[in-house]
Amino acid sequence: MSASKNGRAAKAAALVIFGITGDLAHRKLVPALYQLVLDGQLPPETSIIGVGRREWSDDKLRSEMRIAIEKFARTQPVDPSALDNVLSRMQYVYGDFGEKPGYARLAAKLEELGAYNRLYYLATPPSVYEEIISNLGEANLAQNERGWTRIIVEKPYGHDLASAQELEAMIHSVFDEEQIYRIDHYLGKETVQNILFFRFANGIFEPLWNRRYVNCVQITVAETIGVDGRAAYFDSAGVIRDIVQNHALQLLTLTAMEAPVAFNADSVRDEKVKVLRALRPLTGDEALRNTLRAQYGGGKQNGKQVDAYLEHEGVAKNSQTETFLAMRVAIDNWRWAGVPFFIRSGKHLAERVTEIAVQYKQVPLALFGAQNMAGDAPNRLVLNIQPDEGITLTFGAKVPGPDNKLKSVKMDFSYAEAFGASTPEAYERLLLDCMHGDATLFTRSDEVLEAWKFIDGVLQAWQAQPARKLPQYAPGSWGPQENQKFIQEHGHTWREMAQVPG
Ligand code: BG6
Repeated sequence: MSASKNGRAAKAAALVIFGITGDLAHRKLVPALYQLVLDGQLPPETSIIGVGRREWSDDKLRSEMRIAIEKFARTQPVDPSALDNVLSRMQYVYGDFGEKPGYARLAAKLEELGAYNRLYYLATPPSVYEEIISNLGEANLAQNERGWTRIIVEKPYGHDLASAQELEAMIHSVFDEEQIYRIDHYLGKETVQNILFFRFANGIFEPLWNRRYVNCVQITVAETIGVDGRAAYFDSAGVIRDIVQNHALQLLTLTAMEAPVAFNADSVRDEKVKVLRALRPLTGDEALRNTLRAQYGGGKQNGKQVDAYLEHEGVAKNSQTETFLAMRVAIDNWRWAGVPFFIRSGKHLAERVTEIAVQYKQVPLALFGAQNMAGDAPNRLVLNIQPDEGITLTFGAKVPGPDNKLKSVKMDFSYAEAFGASTPEAYERLLLDCMHGDATLFTRSDEVLEAWKFIDGVLQAWQAQPARKLPQYAPGSWGPQENQKFIQEHGHTWREMAQVPG
C-alpha cells in the first residue's frame, strides 16, 4: 500500500494459478484479472497459466473462464474486447500436483513464454499446499535469477498453531519470507484499508482513540449465508478459524494499532503484530467465560426454509462446531487497557454486515437530567466495512420543543455518494500489489503465528471442556438469546442491529 501507487504500471509476469478449475478461480481470481485488464492495469505482457488436475486444453480453459467472467465480473455487461484480451493470455498446463511431469511442463511453458517474473497462486485445498510447494522447489521453480518469484497462499493457513508452524517451516524451506504473500482478502477491501487512512490522515479522531474516551469496541462480521456446499470443511473449522483467526483479528489490529513509523509493509505489520502480542491470552476458564458459541437451528429466513446446521450432510451429528461466536478480547497495552473489544460473527444471521463500532464514554455529568446518562452514551463511530460502505457518527441532539429531551442522530459518509461507481474487489487490489512486490496488505509470518497463538488458547479450552450441546439460534436472527446476557455480564450491551422479518 505504498503512497506512490497512483497510476503505476505493474511489471510483466506469468501468473500461475494452481487450482484454476476450482471455485475461487472462477468466482474471484479470473473475474479480478478481467477487471484489471478492463481498467488497463494488467500489463500486456502478463500471461495467465492455469494448472489443474483435469485434462483440459487451452480452448477448454478459455471457454470455462469466459462463462465465469460473464457471470462474476464486477462491471456488467462484460466488455467483449477486454474479455477476449484476458482470455487470449490464458494457457493451461495439465498436472497432478503430487507428480513431477506437470512441473516439467510448467517449467517448459514459462521458458517458452520467456516469463521470468513469476507469481504462483495456491488456489487449491490446503491439503495439497505441501506437495505443490516442495515440487516447485525440486523443479527449480522457486528461485530464479532472471526475475522475481513470489507465491500467494490462501487461507486457511494452518488449522491451529502447531499446523501453522509446520506449514511455515515447510514453506520457508523452499521460499524466503519476502517471496511469500499470505492472503487475507479482507485486507484488500477498500473500507478495511480506509481504517488506516481514517485514523492516520485525520487529526480529529486519533486523540479520542484510546482508553480515556472509548468505552468499548464492537466488531461484527455477520453473514446471511450458511455453509451449503462446504459443510465438511466448515465443520472442521467453525467461525473461530474461518472468520475470527483471520478477518476479525485483522479488523481488530487495524483498529487498535499505533501509527506506523512509515507507510510500508514492515512498518505497518510491525504495529499489527504488537497488538496481537498484547492480546490477553484466553485460556482455561477465562476462555469459556469470554466466549459464547452457538449453532443455527432450522427455520425460515427471508421466506426460505433453512436446514439446521446439524442436519447438513458432512456435519457430524453431535458436532460442537460453532456457526456463531461472540467473544470478549482484552488488549493489555497503554492505549487500550480496560477497553473490551467484542467480536461477534455468525452464519445465517439477520443481515450481511461487517462493521467496527467504537462506543464512546458518557459525559461526566448529566446536565440534561437522567436521560443523557441512561444506557449507552450517544457518541458512537461506526466504520461500515460492507455492504453499505461508509462511516457514521452518532451524537445526541436536542429534540425541538419545550422539554430538554435528547435524541440520538447521525452524520453519515457513504462511499457510493462520495465516490460513485462500484469499488474494486479485494482480489483486484491484492493481485496487483503482489505483482508490484508490495506486501503491506498481506500477512507476515510472525503475524499469522501470533494470531494462532491467541486462538489456540481458546481452542484448547473448548476441547478440554466440551459443551454438551451448543445453544441454538433461529436463522435470520441476531444469534442466540444467551448473547445479550453474555455481553451484559461483561457490563455492556450489543449495538442494536436492524431487525429483519423472517
Ligand atoms: C471467507 C470464509 O474467508 O470469507 C467464508 O471462508 C466467508 O466462510 C467469507 O463467507 C466472507 O467474505 P466476504 O468478503 O463475503 O465478507
